[in-house]
Amino acid sequence: MKPVVSERGRRMPSSPIRKLMPLAEAARRRGVRVYPLNIGQPDLETPPAMRRHLAEAPAVFAYSPSAGTPECLATLQEYYRRIGIALSTDDIIATTGGSEAVLFAMMAGAGEGDDVLLVEPFYTNYQAFATMAGLRLVALPTRAEDGFHLPPREAWERALTSRTRMVLLCNPNNPTGTVYTAEELQVAADFCRDRGLFLVADEVYRELVFDGRKHVSALSLAGFEENVVVVDSLSKRYSACGIRLGCLVTRNRDLYGACFRMAQGRLSPPGLAQLVALGASELGPDYVLGLVAEYQARRDILYEALRDIPGVLMRKPEGAFYFVARLPIEDAEDFAAWMLSDFSLDGATVLVSPAPGFYATPGLGRNEVRIAYVLRKEHLETAVRVLARGLAAYREARGMGPVATATATTSGL
Ligand SMILES: Cc1ncc(COP(=O)(O)O)c(C=O)c1O
Repeated sequence: MKPVVSERGRRMPSSPIRKLMPLAEAARRRGVRVYPLNIGQPDLETPPAMRRHLAEAPAVFAYSPSAGTPECLATLQEYYRRIGIALSTDDIIATTGGSEAVLFAMMAGAGEGDDVLLVEPFYTNYQAFATMAGLRLVALPTRAEDGFHLPPREAWERALTSRTRMVLLCNPNNPTGTVYTAEELQVAADFCRDRGLFLVADEVYRELVFDGRKHVSALSLAGFEENVVVVDSLSKRYSACGIRLGCLVTRNRDLYGACFRMAQGRLSPPGLAQLVALGASELGPDYVLGLVAEYQARRDILYEALRDIPGVLMRKPEGAFYFVARLPIEDAEDFAAWMLSDFSLDGATVLVSPAPGFYATPGLGRNEVRIAYVLRKEHLETAVRVLARGLAAYREARGMGPVATATATTSGL
């Protein structure tokens, strides 16, 4: 008899971000250059100060302590000290990317069949982790018109169920690029404290806040030590996605203990990555300033060009390196596929992520796409030109005609 995979295995969603890859591959085989605006894989160099540490690789690639080497934990502690957050190394567990930290937080903070409250659109892999952990995501909608900012307290209260165990916030937000203000964060934190919930804050894009904004870490909120769990990562901050190092931070001893035991179960975080991480303390403040300036300049190129396209609705993104834009189309999946299979301009096309995969509520995001600006400026300029021409050509091909002038501006957003 053939063995069958579990219900959980069957329910595991496939990545909506990667769904269009075969069409992109086919376009490349036809000789079309595909600009990837779909995934958050930065093109910047991992800082040499970090790469240099690979030369210290020992003769034996041994397991490290389960929470990370003392040196790696001290480096992470020093990183937080520099951004004004005092932690003990016993508050930090090094993980295999921020991804493992999300999974640990979910599995330790909620049980089979429990609810995780979050806002949509959200980072699609939260759905994958929730499925692995047997949790249900309960999503509160946020809207482009409000810059995808957080809902008021009443909305959180209305969404509460007897099974809600945590609120999961991504700040700065992937996919919307929204940076939450101290006030809205406080509302969410108060709600968590009053209702006995964990506040899991995914801050992997912490540094990437633009136009002089200040990021407020959930770890800096006084009086929420028992509620707050932070998910962090070196992937985006140091353009080091492939080394697979992140961490989970919490001052809640019980939650730390549960996550630590999970960490023991999987033995140790990646050893080479922990060596590379040591180089982070050698980077001066200029490193982050340069990083922010680069992404802000890229954001500006895309924003300026996109808001000139008739019918495109978006707010100026505040952080991270993504945004969600509403396009003058009806079906973003069809549009994204068509761009790869039917369109090119001067031998080039673009790959964007259809937004429905970032929503839990069926039907939402149908005319939206997520765009990541992880390409250098000259490529972005070309990519946005291709996108604009592609949009017009797509509307014509689908018999939609030019965008009516009444909906042809970004005004009001
Ligand atoms: C919001 C968010 N959280 C977590 C991750 C996980 O990153 P990693 O596992 O590379 O640290 C990502 C990656 O794109 C992300 O966008």
